Amino acid sequence: MTKSVLVCGAGGFIGGHLVRRLMEEGCWVRGVDNKRHEYSSAHPTEFMLGDLCDQQFVAKVVDRDYDEVYQLAADMGGAGYIFSGENDAAIMQNSATINLNMLNACHRRSIGRIFYSSSACIYPAHNQTDPDNPNCAEDSAYPAAPDSEYGWEKLFSERLHMAYRHNYGMDVHVARYHNIFGPEGTWAGGREKAPAAICRKIAMASDGDAIEVWGDGCQTRSFLYVDECVEGTLRLMRSDIRGPLNIGSEEMVTINQMVDLVADIAGKKIIKRHIAGPLGVRGRNSDNRLIQEQLNWAPSESLRAGLEKTYAWIALQVEQSMAQVAKVA
Ligand code: NAD
Ligand code: GDD
Repeated sequence: MTKSVLVCGAGGFIGGHLVRRLMEEGCWVRGVDNKRHEYSSAHPTEFMLGDLCDQQFVAKVVDRDYDEVYQLAADMGGAGYIFSGENDAAIMQNSATINLNMLNACHRRSIGRIFYSSSACIYPAHNQTDPDNPNCAEDSAYPAAPDSEYGWEKLFSERLHMAYRHNYGMDVHVARYHNIFGPEGTWAGGREKAPAAICRKIAMASDGDAIEVWGDGCQTRSFLYVDECVEGTLRLMRSDIRGPLNIGSEEMVTINQMVDLVADIAGKKIIKRHIAGPLGVRGRNSDNRLIQEQLNWAPSESLRAGLEKTYAWIALQVEQSMAQVAKVA
């Protein structure tokens, strides 16, 4: 029988890739978002445009039974968005309301299987001060001390999902994503994350130019290519493991190393100009021991392989938008 699936956040980066994969599998997919996807060529069977903060709209979205519900919709962005301090109230209000509305509607409709995308931003800031040795093991989440309101909302919503599981027997699966990147994601405008921002800056630079890098570039992160994020999401959702489980890469690099990698891919000599900017934690890396143990799987693609695909796509976007500007001028 054809599987029926709901993807909330289908107009977004990971949602768009998830829709493509589910359509390839032959699922009937309803995608929902308050905006259409800017880039993806993959379309769900049906798309509903609307605000998931609106209970009446959510009732229309959850007007049928689904075999799987993926709740990816959130008010979200990279360090420039979540650490600016200006978006905290909106982030908490929007994302918590979406999660409250969706869980309530799914419970009323007796929809069992729900996936929720939490974040590495829930981990305590004090465990991420050493760039060489951050601790992001799943069981280090408490006592809680995330460094952003975005992280606190994610932690609240993890707990909300788990409460629905405990009290109403809903089959809820929770992942903590660690900085996901790839083509067809936000690459400009203020919500972009470091991989997209660095690719854009290098694509716009000429050989020998300088690009701006926030901070000293010695802060560490790991970045996961979006196809592996989707793979991990489906594996977790279709298992009897409920999580929360990290879905991320263990290939930790400094931001400076990532800049060098992208410059090498682009074939350009790039100078780094370090400037003040929103930094977030000093070090972060996925800890994949639990996912390996519980799902017998963990991401394995190299950062370089993912950045090659991402840089090619972002360089094309830069080229096209420059051509557009030239046409108008
Ligand atoms: P994204 O911003 O591209 O996608 C989120 C989508 O939610 C957007 O298209 C947005 O329009 C939609 N949305 C927001 N408010 C809405 C509303 N009120 N009604 C309807 N739609 C609404 O982000 P993404 O990178 O695809 O992330 C997907 C999920 O994974 C989010 O929950 C995010 O917090 C989580 N996550 C992502 C990362 C990452 O590195 N990309 C890391 C950790 C967690
Ligand atoms: N965005 C961006 N743009 N970051 C830059 C830049 C730049 O031009 N230059 C340096 N950085 C640095 C940031 O200061 C930060 O220290 C690091 O690169 C990583 O920034 P982001 O990729 O924007 O965000 P993050 O890793 O701190 O948090 C992201 O990942 C979380 C999950 O791991 C965010 O997208 C969160 O929303 C997400 O939950």
